[in-house]
Amino acid sequence: MNKNFYITTPIYYPSAKPHMGHAYSSIAADFFARFKRIDGFNVHFLTGTDEHGLKIQRAAESKNIDPQIFCDEISQTFRNLSNTLNLSNTDFIRTTEDRHKKTVQYLWSQLEKNDDIYLSKYSGWYSVSDEAFYAEEEISVKEDNKIATSSGSLVEWIEEESYFFRLSKWQDSLLEYYENNPDFISPKSRKNEVISFVKSGLKDLSISRKAFSWGIKVPNNPEHVIYVWLDALTNYISALNYPNIDDDLFKNFWPASVHLIGKDILRFHAVYWPAFLMAAKITLPNKVYGHGWILSGDEKMSKSKGNILDPLDIIETYGLDPLRYYLIKEVSFGNDGNISQDRLEDCINSDLANNYGNLCQRVTAFAEKNCQSKVPDIKNFIEEDLSMLNKFSDNISLIRKEIDNQNINYYINFIINALFEANKYFNDQEPWKKKDDPQRLATIIYTSLEMIRKITFMLYPIIPESTIKALNIFGLKEEDIDFNSIGENNFLKSGEIINKIDILFKKIEKND
Ligand code: MSP
Repeated sequence: MNKNFYITTPIYYPSAKPHMGHAYSSIAADFFARFKRIDGFNVHFLTGTDEHGLKIQRAAESKNIDPQIFCDEISQTFRNLSNTLNLSNTDFIRTTEDRHKKTVQYLWSQLEKNDDIYLSKYSGWYSVSDEAFYAEEEISVKEDNKIATSSGSLVEWIEEESYFFRLSKWQDSLLEYYENNPDFISPKSRKNEVISFVKSGLKDLSISRKAFSWGIKVPNNPEHVIYVWLDALTNYISALNYPNIDDDLFKNFWPASVHLIGKDILRFHAVYWPAFLMAAKITLPNKVYGHGWILSGDEKMSKSKGNILDPLDIIETYGLDPLRYYLIKEVSFGNDGNISQDRLEDCINSDLANNYGNLCQRVTAFAEKNCQSKVPDIKNFIEEDLSMLNKFSDNISLIRKEIDNQNINYYINFIINALFEANKYFNDQEPWKKKDDPQRLATIIYTSLEMIRKITFMLYPIIPESTIKALNIFGLKEEDIDFNSIGENNFLKSGEIINKIDILFKKIEKND
C-alpha cells in the first residue's frame, strides 16, 4: 500500500487580515494531515500564498508600495497564521519564489510545445476580486447599476491581445475522466455541478494578460504575464520540484492525495487544472474536495461583506483548540455552516470541559486515591468493559474509510459517542462502591484509563495541543500516538505512573 499522503490547502491571496474561512480550510487540512501521520503515513502538507495578479497589484498600488514589498509583508501574516493555528504543514510556498516561477514557465512551454496555446484577442468580462473571466450569461446589472456575478463579484470589461489555452479540446477527455474516476470531484453534489458546467460547453481560456505587469512573464513574450490561476494552480507541483520528476518529493507525493478547497474555487481545480495537466501529460491528482463556506447569518463570511468573526480574536479569548474543535464539529464538512460565538461557548462547556476534560480529571483523581497513581493490574474484563472498549477495534477500518471519504463528521461523532459512553460507564459502574472487590475496582479504573487513552489519540488531529497535555497522564508523548493502537485494549502497562494534569479546558461563565 502507498503510505505517502500529499494534502494541499488553496494558496491564499495575501490580505492583511486572514478570516475565519481561511482558518477553516487550513484547520480541516491540518486535521487530515495529522490523522494520516498517526496512521503511519509519510505526509506532505502544503500551504502558502498566491501573490500575483491584478488584485494584488491594485492592493499594493492603493498603499503606494512596491508589490513585492507588499507581498513580503502580507505573506508573512499567513505564515504567522499557520503557526497560530498550529498547522503541521511541511512546506509553505509563495508564488513569487524562483522555484515556483521556473515551474510555471516550464509548464507553459510544455503546453505551447503540445500545441495547446495560441495567440488571439480576448474581449469579455473579468472579475478582479475572483481573478476570473465570466460569460455574458453569468453576470447581470445590479440595483446600483454595477455589473456583477451572481455571487456579487464586480466585473469589468476587458479587450486585449491574449494567449489562449485550448480548453475546448479537453472537454470530452475531462468528462471521460470524471466518469472513470468517480471520486475525483467530491462531495458528489459538487461533482454534478462541475459535470453540468463542462457539458454546457467549454470555451478556450484566456491565459495571459497584457494590461498589467505583476505576474510571471510568458516565455519569449515578456509583454504578457501568465494568467494568475494558471500560475497559482501550478504551486501544487512546483512545491514538489516539478519538472524534476526524479526528485524524491515529486516521486513520493505526486499525484496529490487531495486538494482541499472551498466550493467557490471548484471550477479552477476540477476543470482548468486537470485540463492543464492532461495537456502537459502529467498525472492528475487523486481528488479535489470542495468544502462549504463558513457563514455568518446566511452569508459567506468575507472581508468585503464585513461580517467577520476574527479567528485571532477568538483564539485570544478562548484558545486555539476550542476553535479547532468547534469548527470541525459544528460544520457538516462539505456543506455550508453557520457559526456563532454563543454556540462556540456551549461547545467548550459541554464537549471539552464537561465531557472530555472532566473525564480526564475525574478518573485520574480516582486512580490517585485508589491505586496509588499507578496503572492497575487487570485480570479480566467483563462484558460491560469490552462492549465499550471493542467499539474501537470493531470500527477501525470503517473510521479509516470514512476519513478517506473526508467524512470528518463521522469521526467526531464517533469520539463524542465514545466520550458519552465512557462518562456513563464510570457513573454506572460506581467504582467508589467496589472497594471490597479490588479486582473489579482495578478493572473499572483500567478500562476508564484505556478509554481516555483511545479518545485522546483520536482527538489529537483535532486538538493537538490539549491532547499532548492530556497524554502526560500516562507519560506518553506526541510520537507515541498511533491510530492503530486504538484497537488494543491493553496498551497501558500496569504499574506505570498516572500523572495529575492541570485543567484542560476552563468552563465559560455564561450570563443566561
Ligand atoms: N488564491 C486563491 C486560491 C488559489 S489555489 C491554487 C484563493 N484564495 S482565497 O484566499 O480567496 O481563498 C482561499 C480559500 O479560503 C478558498 O478555498 C476559499 O474557498 C476559502 N474561503 C474563503 N472564504 C471562505 C468562507 N467564508 N468559508 C470557508 N472557506 C472560504 O481563492
